[in-house]
This record gives sequence, structure tokens and C-alpha cells, in this order.
Amino acid sequence: MSPLLEFYGVARSFGERVALDDVNFALERGEFAFLVGPTGAGKTTLLKLVNREIRPTAGEVWIDGVAAHTLKSTRVAELRRRVGVVFQDFKLLPRLTAVENVSFGLQVTDLRISDQEALDRAQDALDAVGLGDRADAFPAELSGGQQQRVAIARALAPQPPMLVADEPTGNLDLETAWQVMTLLQDVSRFGTAVLVATHNVEIVKRLQRRVLTLVEGRLVRDQPAGRVGRLAWAVKS
Ligand SMILES: Nc1ncnc2c1ncn2[C@@H]1O[C@H](COP(=O)(O)OP(=O)(O)O)[C@@H](O)[C@H]1O
Ligand SMILES: [Mg+2]
Repeated sequence: MSPLLEFYGVARSFGERVALDDVNFALERGEFAFLVGPTGAGKTTLLKLVNREIRPTAGEVWIDGVAAHTLKSTRVAELRRRVGVVFQDFKLLPRLTAVENVSFGLQVTDLRISDQEALDRAQDALDAVGLGDRADAFPAELSGGQQQRVAIARALAPQPPMLVADEPTGNLDLETAWQVMTLLQDVSRFGTAVLVATHNVEIVKRLQRRVLTLVEGRLVRDQPAGRVGRLAWAVKS
């Protein structure tokens, strides 16, 4: 079977600025990988190409058989069902409870789902991230780590084959960051491929998963799981 995610000679510029240049890699179904590198290296740009928030200037991006690089904006929903997204600042809707945030996310990706089915599946997703008992809490009543877990439940509820997370622990203390990162790692054990952009060297070294390193828009290193020693870029930051 072909990989879930493939980048072929991918480049992306913003005017004169080259954010990504000739990026090639593949991610298998259920694989977990970190994406690291200094600020401005192109991590966010790469993740935005995966969920087709932007398109490449050159090259090809394939996800689960869908050509994201040529996908028309009218067909973006096909991709959004395949890629769940988690952000640094959670992006929960403040006036909706945890379970409503998750069920709203489900109804956005699947317009035919009934309110009751969406709520039931949202509750299941919250149970899966260990927050089943806080379903009726509003975001402001939850800690940062709990809010991020709701956001992860929202991303996973539609059961996408791929999850991307952009600095998901950037606003969390180390202990909470560790809990969120291990949750993301567990997600991959159930068959969802996970790609996580992060600055957290401590956690990257401890988890010993595959590490892709971007520097100035180029993929300069691809370290396999279990073989993560020195992180070249981390010396400077
Ligand atoms: N919308 C944009 N307009 C102009 N330049 C951008 C835009 N998005 C990103 N860039 C530039 O692309 C480069 C990579 O940015 P980014 O992908 O955000 O890096 P990272 O997430 O690794 O910090 C940076 O030089 C950044 O300034
Ligand atoms: Mg970024």
C-alpha cells in the first residue's frame, strides 16, 4: 500500500521569500513524526500544505490518494475529512461547552450527521482523551491542558487517517506538555498518522520517535525512531 502522506519536490514561496524548497518525504499510516527546526524554518507552512490551507508553488502533496496540490477550493471538504488539525492556541469556541465544541466540529466535516449522533460521537471522543466527565464545561472553566485535549478530541472525532499539530504544547508547562504529547503518541497507535511541529527538545528526545528537521525551508535531516541523539538546530535556540 502506498504511504498516507507524500511530498514530492515541494516548494512554497510567499512573494520573494522561499518558505519551503524541494521537500521530499513520506509518512505511513499510523506513523508518528516530529517536525522540528528554528523559527521561520517552514514548519507551519508545511503543515498548512497538508490540510490544503495553502497550495505549493511547485511539487506534489498527496494525502490518502487525494492530490492536495491541485485540489480546487470547492473540494477542500474531501481533504478536511482526512486531516484533523490541532493548534497552539486550541481555537475552541468560547460560548460552546466541550462536548458542543467537538460535535460542532463533526457537523462541519459531515453535514448529514444528526445533532444527537454528533453529540454521542463527541462524548465518545471526549471519553477517549480522558475528559468524559468535563463534557459540559466551557473552555474558560478548563485548564490549558484540558482545553488542548478537547481540541484533540475535536480533531479526531471524524476519525481522520491523519492528524497535524502545530506547536500543540507551546502554551503549556512541561508536565502538561508531556501529557498532551503522550496522548498524541497514543493516537498514532490506533492507526492515525500524526505529524507534530514542536520546539520542545526535551520531549522530542524523550519520546524517541521519527524526527524531520527543517532549516531555512529545506528538510535537512530525517532521524528514524529510536535513533534521536543531538538535534542540530537546538544548539542555537
Ligand atoms: N503568509 C505569509 N506571507 C509571507 N511570508 C510568510 C507567510 N507565511 C510564512 N511566511 C514566511 O515563510 C517562512 C517560514 O515560516 P513558517 O512556516 O511560519 O515557519 P515556522 O513555523 O517554522 O516558524 C518565514 O520566513 C515566514 O516569514
Ligand atoms: Mg510555526
